[in-house]
Amino acid sequence: MPTADEMDVTFDPLAEGFVDSPYEQYALLRDHDPVQHSPLLHGWVVTRFDDVGRLLRDPTVSSDIHNATPTPLTEMELERLAEQRRAARTLVLMDDPDHARIRKLLADPFRPREIDKLRVRITERVADTLDRLRDTCGDERVELDLIEEFAYPLPVEIFSEMLGVPDEDHPRFRHWTQLVARSVDPVMRADEREECLAGLEAMYAYLEEVADRKRAEPGDDLMSALVHAEVDGGRLTHEELMAQLVTLYMAGHEPTASLIGLGMVALLRTPDQLARLRDEPGLLRNGVSELLRYDGPNQFVRRVLTRDTPVAGVELPAGAVVYASPASANRDPRRWGDTADQVVVDRSDAGQHLQFGAGVHACLGSHLARLQAEIAFAALLERLEDVELAGTPEHSTRMFIRGMARLPVACTIRPRST
Ligand code: HEM
Repeated sequence: MPTADEMDVTFDPLAEGFVDSPYEQYALLRDHDPVQHSPLLHGWVVTRFDDVGRLLRDPTVSSDIHNATPTPLTEMELERLAEQRRAARTLVLMDDPDHARIRKLLADPFRPREIDKLRVRITERVADTLDRLRDTCGDERVELDLIEEFAYPLPVEIFSEMLGVPDEDHPRFRHWTQLVARSVDPVMRADEREECLAGLEAMYAYLEEVADRKRAEPGDDLMSALVHAEVDGGRLTHEELMAQLVTLYMAGHEPTASLIGLGMVALLRTPDQLARLRDEPGLLRNGVSELLRYDGPNQFVRRVLTRDTPVAGVELPAGAVVYASPASANRDPRRWGDTADQVVVDRSDAGQHLQFGAGVHACLGSHLARLQAEIAFAALLERLEDVELAGTPEHSTRMFIRGMARLPVACTIRPRST
């Protein structure tokens, strides 16, 4: 096999075509340079399933950027975190024991049994959205952007409802979460940064008010559960609570919307698999796992090594920043065999994918995301008759979360079945 240099295998998220499909680059990296130093990221890009899983589960590997040997990117991030003091307290960037303490306080409302109680409400919201769309076109065939009209609003609405935010304020959250998500991008004009910080402040102020209200008058909602959550006599401080709420909005929004968008594209491009899911709704649960595996939003998870660590035969030094790619791992034929690049909705081990990460930081919202996706796909497959792509889907350009900016489809929207 030729070496990486002979093949010119360089991780380059700015290369033409990467945004539409990064998977060809990942395949080359896995085969020729499975742990590659990236001058662009000042860190190591790790692409094989076994290596990614091992790194995510390794308790000596840190999520705290303060442990990194400084690089221009880590310096920039530390500056950003200093600017957004509260964002720095997110559990995503913490190590145990702080991480474990905060995670325990957040965990209960996200357990499968609790999340399953939302099934009826989510089904109702999804059906309402499709009813509203049908109201505008009746039995006519229509073209619509499934991202703008369906996938993007859904997770914010569901999460806002879980928190106990009234319906009329949901659009504000949609705007704020967009700003907050943008604020993570390392390169941004000064006026944009100002706008993002102002949005973040407005979101904090609003959430503080809701938290105060629920502290005084608890209800049957997530905010009440979180302000009163207690483990071993300890509670979330006000500052910690605010940081986690913004994390939850952000962590939950883009990837869930992307999963619905990317999954629909995958199904529209493999009509036999779409037909199977439509005909056998019992396969949906497994189908969602397979769509997460095949083209999930999460491209990279960042970690910092706290001791010299061998990865795929390369000795990486303590302090190194590592970008482990669940998306690449999920297409690794060493793990998934010859069908790694195909959608197979009844793949028996699809649930072993790494889209939700692994180890102590494994996604806290995975049951919620899965439930929303299952209900959304069920409704779309049932009610969008003769659905087909009505143009080229546009992917968004963020490197860590593969998202969709536009997904034009043509279909007739069936009325709700009673
Ligand atoms: C398809 C949708 C989603 C995907 C693919 C996804 C993926 C991930 C991944 C890969 C991680 C691990 C990050 C790391 O190891 O550094 C993570 C963490 C997390 N996710 Fe998700 N996520 C999704 C939806 C959600 C939702 C709906 C919520 C909640 C509303 C959520 C909340 C969180 C939180 C709080 C963490 C941090 C956990 C920790 O650090 O202990 N996620 N997610």
